Amino acid sequence: MARKIPPGSPKRVFRQAPQHIWDSNQQQKSKSEMTLTELKELFPKQTWKPSTLLMPIPAVMLSCGGGKSDFAPNIITVAWAGIACSEPAMLTVSIRKERHSYDIISATKEFVVNIPSASQAKITDWCGMKSGRDVDKFAETRLTPLPATQVKCPLIADCPINIECKVARVVPLGSHDLFIAKILAVNISPELLDKRGKLNVEQADLLAYAHSEYRTLGKKIGTFGFSVRKRK
Ligand SMILES: Cc1cc2nc3c(=O)[nH]c(=O)nc-3n(C[C@H](O)[C@H](O)[C@H](O)COP(=O)(O)O)c2cc1C
Repeated sequence: MARKIPPGSPKRVFRQAPQHIWDSNQQQKSKSEMTLTELKELFPKQTWKPSTLLMPIPAVMLSCGGGKSDFAPNIITVAWAGIACSEPAMLTVSIRKERHSYDIISATKEFVVNIPSASQAKITDWCGMKSGRDVDKFAETRLTPLPATQVKCPLIADCPINIECKVARVVPLGSHDLFIAKILAVNISPELLDKRGKLNVEQADLLAYAHSEYRTLGKKIGTFGFSVRKRK
């Protein structure tokens, strides 16, 4: 059923998606005509207590320490990570105070976000199971520390993308402190770039994390703005 267009509305309106249910009399009923009880029956939900169920999210390895700092180079896996600002480019990572890397990053105010490929899932998990207080994670994993361009801590050469960061602010939140950091440089392995220098995400074979499960990313199904782009 078409919706009435109020006077003064823009001419182009989206046609309502043709989604209907059948009531007990086998009559078609649109969602706008349904009662709240009917809608709740159509979309049953189980409400859980607050939890960190945002997904999918990245699982990345932060490298930190080294250089002239008092700390040996270390790696910590974090999943509580995200982009925070476009200009200037900034990201956030949340780290528990108990982590060895918390001490390192608090003291040096810098780290590198190393984005692993799906083939590096096991090594990513391992770096999140062991502490740099007990093991040399670079030595044990045989991951390669490589000098970064803007920060003194090393990047992980084996990861396809390395984002160099400088901590701008730390916000205590509870279990974790939120590190808000400025992105100083992004390093990309050349095999991810096509002849024109465009980044081919497919080539990176990225790793995703959802509800404590590591997953591959799956195939491309669209690009930014494709829902409104006119077909050529
Ligand atoms: C997939 C995954 C995600 C993790 N995410 C975080 C995180 O976001 N923040 C955090 O403080 N610890 C996180 N951890 C736990 C740390 O990586 C782990 O405690 C690690 O051993 C700390 O190393 P460190 O003591 O050398 O710093 C995660 C672990 C795994 C396996």
